Order: sequence, then C-alpha cells, then structure tokens
Amino acid sequence: MLEAVLLVGGQGTRLRPLTVTTPKPMLPVAGVPCTEHQIARARAAGVTRVVLGTSYKPEVFVEHFGDGSRYGVELVYVTEEVPLGTGGAIRHVAPHLQSGPDDPVLVFNGDVLSGHDIAGQVERWRTSGSDVSLYLTKVEDPRAYGLVPTDAEARVQAFLEKPATLADCVTDQINAGCYVFRRSVIDAIPSGRPVSVERETFPALLAAGATVTGFVDDGYWLDLGTPLAFVQGSRDLVLGLAPSPVLAGRTGDALVIPGAEVAWDATLSGGTFVGAGATVGSRAVVTGSTLFEGAVVAAGAVVRDSAVGHGAIIGSGAVLEGVVVGDRAVVGPGNELVRGARVWPGVALGDTAVRFSSDR
Ligand code: GTP
Repeated sequence: MLEAVLLVGGQGTRLRPLTVTTPKPMLPVAGVPCTEHQIARARAAGVTRVVLGTSYKPEVFVEHFGDGSRYGVELVYVTEEVPLGTGGAIRHVAPHLQSGPDDPVLVFNGDVLSGHDIAGQVERWRTSGSDVSLYLTKVEDPRAYGLVPTDAEARVQAFLEKPATLADCVTDQINAGCYVFRRSVIDAIPSGRPVSVERETFPALLAAGATVTGFVDDGYWLDLGTPLAFVQGSRDLVLGLAPSPVLAGRTGDALVIPGAEVAWDATLSGGTFVGAGATVGSRAVVTGSTLFEGAVVAAGAVVRDSAVGHGAIIGSGAVLEGVVVGDRAVVGPGNELVRGARVWPGVALGDTAVRFSSDR
C-alpha cells in the first residue's frame, strides 16, 4: 500500500474571483478539478489511499469525490478547523495514516499540475535512504519560488525562499510541491499550531542533519496560483502538453463537453475548453480559453487566453484577451478587456469600451 496526502486547504486568494465559490484545487482545469487530475496520476503511480487535508470549503471535496471508489482509491478527509499551514496540515493528518514508521508517504500541494515521474521519486527516496525527497523543477526566473540548491549527491544544501534579485538566485531549481516523507518524519512535526513545511520543517531537518534529497525532473510543471496560470493549465491539458490519465484519448485543439452548443461557423482553437451547457455563437473566435458550464460567448465575440465563469455572458462583438470573468458576470456587447482584467462574479459591464491595465 502506498499513501498520499493532498494539501487542499488553502484559500486561493490570488485566484479570486474564481475561488470565491470554489476552493482552488476544485476549480475545473480542462473540466476536471486539479485534485482529480492529481488523484488519477497518483493512482497510476501506485497510490491506493489518499488523505485530503482540507480547511477552506471542505464540503465541496466530499460532494465531488465521496469515498473515492469511483477513482480507484480509498479517500479519507481530514479537516482543520483553523488553517494550520502546509506543515501543520501534514502533521494534522498523521493520526489518519496507515503507513509504518519507515514507509514512504507522498505529499502533494493541491494546486500543481505536473507530469513528473511520481513512482521514480518514491523509488529514488528509497534507494537514497532519504528522510524526505523533494520534487524539484528548473525555471528561467526562480525569484517567485523557493530555491533548493543540491550537491552532486542530490542532497539539499539550503532552502532559500523567494530571493529578491536574480543575482541572489544561486540555482534555478525550485520546490515543485511534491514530497516523499518517511512516515516518522511527519509524526515529528509539531502539532496543534501553524507550521510552514517550506520555511520551518525543511530548514529544521537540514539543521538536524537529516537526509533531505532533491529529485530533479524536467517533465511538465505548472503552479496554478494565478488566474492566467490556471487558463494556461487548462489549455495545456486540452492540447496534451500536461499529461493526465483523466483526459486520455480526448486531447486536441479544443475539448467540447457534450451538451455545449457551438455554432458551425465559430472557431475554437489553441486548447480551448467548452464546458457543459456553454454556448458559442456564430463567427465567435475562442482561442486558448476556458468556458465554464453555462457560459455564453455571443456572435462575433473574440475570447483569447481567458476564463469565462459559470453562466457568465460575453456580448456580441466583445473582445477579451487574458481576462478572467467571474460566475454570472456580463460583459456587454462591444466591450474590450485586455490582459490582467478580472470581472467579479455577477458584475455587469455596459456598452462602453473598457480597458484595464495589467494587474497580474
Ligand atoms: P494563495 O492564497 O493564493 O497564496 O493560495 P493558497 O492559499 O492555496 O496557498 P499556497 O498556494 O501557498 O498553498 C500551497 C498548497 O497548500 C495549496 O494546495 C493549498 O491548498 C495548501 N494549503 C495552504 N495552506 C494550507 C492550510 O493551512 N491547510 C491545508 N490543509 N492546506 C493548505
């Protein structure tokens, strides 16, 4: 038996307004919650028992996943009354784990889409005799992330959170949000108080001389932290660039869920996802975008690299590029919204052309 813990309790403040009604890990990416993609990938790597560490809107997870049998795993829900942070959440689920003290336990951040070799990471953890193994990925500009330099034997040398300048970036390897813990290491995290695994647990393990190793993998990786990253993740899944067993055999230029209505002369491309009950009107052009259930893109509208929320309406001839439109919002005919704009749920924008500057 191999167990995994999914950390899904964050508020997802950077993804507002999408997370006003839905917790970030449950937002559909190519129509399927990120958590479901992760469970499917974990299952394919041999995981049979998944513990969901929830806090924000736990009922949304239970309603969707039930006991997990439909997904081929046993699912256990553990809810923090007060959010305990990443390390606190891992410690909080410990009484619900069944692994022995020296067994591996996988831990996933709930907002990461990855194609990394999960089974390979567990195997490397085992052969290297590690206490903890961290999945690392290389990025061009690592400033927004936690840097993790390693030595020739893959042993982690330091944890450097969000360096201020490129000159401070001693490595391009970042913490990619999937760990293999020796079970007993989880039990040793302080309980009953907030703990950051990145800022407290990992540095303390290094200081204590524990064997902490990095597993560098250059497969697909994306942190779904911001609205535009979320749109990208959906696009990459539809195009087949981000691997997920959930979409096997259904990838292509666009994915249209049965029940959506797309006019014969509308154009869908670039990994567009059209949810159930959504409507795309005549001559509309939708590229690299996600249309949630019941969204309406009227005739002649152009939607590029954007997310249109549940039941939201994009008026005829409107142009959206790099925009997030909240649930049931209305963008009136002819409006033009550009990169970075976010329209809050239920807001109606009139006929006047509106331009927003980038506010990512
Ligand atoms: P932002 O508010 O936009 O920064 O997002 P977030 O709240 O999800 O925080 P962050 O991206 O740093 O979290 C990384 C992962 O850990 C996400 O999958 C979160 O759901 C999860 N997480 C963060 N804090 C907690 C917590 O206190 N409890 C639990 N159970 N999970 C958490």
